[in-house]
Amino acid sequence: MSHSVRITGTGSYLPKKVLTNKDLEKFLDTTEEWIFSRSGIRQRHIAAEGEFTSDLAEVASREALKSAGRQASDVDLIVVATTTADQVFPSTACLLQNRLDIHGCPAFDVQAVCAGFLYALDVAYRYVVTGASRCALVVGAETFSRILNWEDRSTCVLFGDGAGAMLLEAADTPGILSSHIHADGAFKDLLCVPVGVSTAYQELLDGRAYTEMQGKEVFRWAVSTLGDAVIEILESNGIHQSEIDWLVPHQANIRIINAIAKRLELSMDQVVVTIDQHGNTSAASVPLAFDVAVKDGRIKSGDKIIFEAFGGGFTWGSMLVQI
Ligand code: UT7
Repeated sequence: MSHSVRITGTGSYLPKKVLTNKDLEKFLDTTEEWIFSRSGIRQRHIAAEGEFTSDLAEVASREALKSAGRQASDVDLIVVATTTADQVFPSTACLLQNRLDIHGCPAFDVQAVCAGFLYALDVAYRYVVTGASRCALVVGAETFSRILNWEDRSTCVLFGDGAGAMLLEAADTPGILSSHIHADGAFKDLLCVPVGVSTAYQELLDGRAYTEMQGKEVFRWAVSTLGDAVIEILESNGIHQSEIDWLVPHQANIRIINAIAKRLELSMDQVVVTIDQHGNTSAASVPLAFDVAVKDGRIKSGDKIIFEAFGGGFTWGSMLVQI
């Protein structure tokens, strides 16, 4: 049986430590002004020593459950999007499941880097819409600071740590209207951590698994691909851009966000921007931004929202949701 699927709860968590652009000036050949003008970032949060992706995910998840008025025992599916799992295995989803004292339901990670949350939402949506699940916990959580080369000014200034969570539930009224995810591995070298367990385990052990990015190229592809993705979602739902209340974009660069808003002919007052405060938190960025705008009252029941994200792979996705 097919159901509607609604977002019934939302939560987020940011590590306490804040690293400002001014702080970065102290150990990098960079300036506050360069970082802000090229990316829109003013500060980012950094996980403490001993604070892991599952710790961030747990706080965000508990908050999402609370906001939905649900108990952990109501959850029958856990999907975690992360690039920075605590361990090689078990998955962060299994570690989270154990923390929440949930037993037996499926729990797994998805890895699509900055588009990871859109992938996780897509999977969970399909479980709930088909009736395979009734209450899915979907989390984007990252300690991206751990895979940055803090001597590489072209990448380390851009990212931050954090987690966001949503609860998806079967419902009788419309919620998620459509979900679209894509990938093209031909672009695998433009944004990557080029080592892993199978290729260079010693580099992992030595802490030399770093993010590499050809920024200009990635920027160009992000603008054109996401521009096409938002048009795809309008066309496949037969709706006009004037019907969209909010854009909740992946927060990689304010200039990319501006370009997509322009493509949708949205004013920046209809775009949720957190990049100045959070930096790029990869899979956590969309649920973190959504949570901020729900909590401050901007996003209201009945609003139509587009989520979009683009990341390494390349991977990208978009979703149209009525709240
Ligand atoms: O989330 C996944 C998707 N990620 C993205 O979408 C990120 C996409 N890319 C970007 O956001 C932008 O390309 C960046 C913010 C990374 C860079 O902006 P840009 O306008 O493309 O700058 P650029 O790479 O062309 O660099 C311009 C200059 C270079 O110097 P020269 O060669 O012109 O002398 C860089 O060496 O800026 C220099 N530079 C810096 N200067 C000060 C690079 N990083 C820094 C820095 N501080 N942190």
